Amino acid sequence: MISLKDITKIYKNEHVETRALDGVSFGIKEGEFVAIMGPSGSGKSTLMHIVGALDTPTSGEYVLDNQKVGQLSDDELAEIRNKKIGFIFQSFNLLRRTPAIKNVMLPMVYAGISSEKRMGLAKKLLADVDLADKTDNLPSQLSGGEQQRVAIARALAMKPSIILADEPTGNLDTKSGAEIMDIFQALNKKGNTIIMITHERYIAEHAKRIILLRDGKIVEDNVN
Ligand SMILES: Nc1ncnc2c1ncn2[C@@H]1O[C@H](COP(=O)(O)OP(=O)(O)O)[C@@H](O)[C@H]1O
Ligand SMILES: [Mg+2]
Repeated sequence: MISLKDITKIYKNEHVETRALDGVSFGIKEGEFVAIMGPSGSGKSTLMHIVGALDTPTSGEYVLDNQKVGQLSDDELAEIRNKKIGFIFQSFNLLRRTPAIKNVMLPMVYAGISSEKRMGLAKKLLADVDLADKTDNLPSQLSGGEQQRVAIARALAMKPSIILADEPTGNLDTKSGAEIMDIFQALNKKGNTIIMITHERYIAEHAKRIILLRDGKIVEDNVN
């Protein structure tokens, strides 16, 4: 479902060029649970942005569900992000003054789904992450782990083919992090494809495959 061939990403500022990704190639099949590891600055987030169609590579080819992503317009990229990819970030990225349920409904608003339908689905998604009694809470009225569960419910709203998570447990205590990993494993068992960045080995161990980046290159790609 995902194929990257010789992906290179060079950031150019006025004076410096940074080669953040240097000839990265790999494929991911439907239903995989992959962790991407590597030290700070190794290119993990850059890779995530490319896989998530948030950014384009300097060279190389990225194919997602038989579409060459490099050839798509901004509108087409936005549609891929909305329909095919569920994003989960370290800092949750919830709207602060917006109740949990409305955060979950937001992708469905953009997709033009009726308000009745999105309310029903958002309630179910929040119940699935054990937040049925907190649908009206603002993010500030939720713990970090609960906020991340809202973000997971939001990521699943459009039934994405891929879940992309960048350090999803990075801001959480061990217990909340373990709860998030339990949810990821349950989602993966149900057939969801998950790509997760982490620099913590014990978090990566939850995945079935670990790709290790160093200086923008893949140095290991092992089935767990
Ligand atoms: N927007 C950017 N402009 C210039 N350099 C960047 C930008 N984003 C990342 N980099 C550089 O690219 C390299 C890889 O960064 P990143 O993908 O964020 O690594 P990681 O997520 O593994 O910490 C680093 O050297 C970083 O400084
Ligand atoms: Mg990063």
